[in-house]
Amino acid sequence: MYRSHTCGELNATHINTTVTLSGWVQKSRDKGFMIWVDLRDRYGITQLIFDTERTPKDVVEKAKTLGREFVIQVKGSVIERESKNPNIATGDIEILVEELIVLNEALLPPFTIEDNTDGGEDIRMKYRYLDIRRNPVKNSLMFRHQVGMQVRNYLSNQGFIEVETPYLIKSTPEGARDFVVPSRMNEGQFYALPQSPQTFKQLLMVGGMDKYFQIVKCFRDEDLRADRQPEFTQIDCEMAFVNQEDILSIFEGMTRHLLKEIKDVAINKFPRMTYDEAMRTYGNDKPDIRFDMKFGELNAVAQHKEFKVFNDAELVVGIAVPGAASYTRKEIDKLIDWVKRPQVGALGMVYVKCNEDGSYKSSVDKFYDQDDLAKWAEATGAKAGDLICVLSGQTNKVRAQLSALRMEMAERLGLRNPEEFAPLWVVDFPLLEWDEETERYHAMHHPFTSPKPEDIPLLETDPGKVRANAYDLVLNGNEIGGGSIRIHDKNTQALMFDHLGFTPEEAKAQFGFLMDAFQYGAPPHGGLAFGFDRLVAILGGQETIRDFIAFPKNNSGRDVMIDAPAAIDNDQLQELSIQLSIQE
Ligand code: AMO
Repeated sequence: MYRSHTCGELNATHINTTVTLSGWVQKSRDKGFMIWVDLRDRYGITQLIFDTERTPKDVVEKAKTLGREFVIQVKGSVIERESKNPNIATGDIEILVEELIVLNEALLPPFTIEDNTDGGEDIRMKYRYLDIRRNPVKNSLMFRHQVGMQVRNYLSNQGFIEVETPYLIKSTPEGARDFVVPSRMNEGQFYALPQSPQTFKQLLMVGGMDKYFQIVKCFRDEDLRADRQPEFTQIDCEMAFVNQEDILSIFEGMTRHLLKEIKDVAINKFPRMTYDEAMRTYGNDKPDIRFDMKFGELNAVAQHKEFKVFNDAELVVGIAVPGAASYTRKEIDKLIDWVKRPQVGALGMVYVKCNEDGSYKSSVDKFYDQDDLAKWAEATGAKAGDLICVLSGQTNKVRAQLSALRMEMAERLGLRNPEEFAPLWVVDFPLLEWDEETERYHAMHHPFTSPKPEDIPLLETDPGKVRANAYDLVLNGNEIGGGSIRIHDKNTQALMFDHLGFTPEEAKAQFGFLMDAFQYGAPPHGGLAFGFDRLVAILGGQETIRDFIAFPKNNSGRDVMIDAPAAIDNDQLQELSIQLSIQE
């Protein structure tokens, strides 16, 4: 028996019992007559004491050789601690050790295994197994497990069945590049790793599974950001015989359930907003609605004077930053530099200080009088003491820029409280999106999303205006889920492929299996997928998903611990019939 108890469970009620514990040496202090060792495992820390008077001499000698992170097993009696530690669960007791076995020695770890470690990001990624011993990482993984359990409970109780779908598939277009896997047995042919189980879950609906879910790995070869990993996990769901309302209601329920069970937060409001409104009001299809700073469009009240920059702009739009009228000239200049950074890309920023006495002071006083500025204040909802920040230019660009500024100001003003949760459905997404590079329309969500029936005629005349039965779930400014009602008849699906520029032959080659299935009694169906990593991170009060993944990739998509990706040897390449032609 390696242990009778864990390192987190002994307390005063165990005093005078004999116990066996196993774990890692967190640290030891040798005072000559006494050695204290903090023994750690997943459950906590227990203090061990080796006393020259009460512990066998050879055991004391062995204890002197213990280094950090040695794996040991001890037997001893639980005694009351003289100086108690109220900060840990086992703080009332310590173990007077009688027997010590070193189960394994350890090299000195390259960073301290403490909550506040001295190890930088790179070194911790390389030795991730050591990082996992630290509370912040360990707790994040345990938290992820809790969320996963609650998801499974909720969906199971709602009648959903977890079905696994294959990882070696044919490419499904979801907007990113595929990771591909060569097939040894089929020379020159490749599997693709799924970007999502989209087509399979639709086939499960044709198969009559009715309510499907899967907590599943997805793979996308795309540029990485704090909220993106090349392999990530979805809570993927699909339902048959449902309309959009049914789906929103089930997953609103799931979100409420998770917030209640995991965070003890009751959500009262679960607002909905159309994509158009989100873009107009927040410049973004995933607005953080925990705070205001709504966009005020100013074209009508700013394009009647001689200010050429505004007159030439497609959109003039501002936000009122609460309390920022007190910014000094220097602070405002810094803010202007911030919006001009290449990551934001604005050409400049006009500002208006809303003074406490009701007057206005702007950077464009030469062109606009107090009445004009009062109208700007009205349009942006600015109050005395606020600073109105105005950007102008091409609509899409300027919205993205002002949205970035809005988020930045919210961050600076402490308005993004991680313990406050504001979910939002964004609905009525456009079906198609114009791609400048390829000069054609792409499916904004994916090609299986159904158009709103009333918009179908627009497919011929104004495809960009067609709205989809598609929705995203946004939580605190992050897209945590998205889905749609699907096309379930062959003809509409063929029409869709046609509009996306597929020839009938291409459509058949890539998606023949799905269109075939639609001819054998496909029920109306729809669903959505949550980004599980994102959901867990946000519930955990953070936005970087890496911290909630046991073995994540770094920003270049590398696993620096196992050193992947890596070259493979020639024999392996030959077996796969792959010839590399790497240009020098
Ligand atoms: P979508 O592409 O919107 O939809 O993905 C669903 C959710 O997955 C999360 N997500 C990611 N998380 C981490 N790293 C990534 N690289 C990454 N990419 C996406 C997001 C996103 O909202 N098949 C459809 C769903 C459906 O229609 O039912 C799909 O995959 O939180």
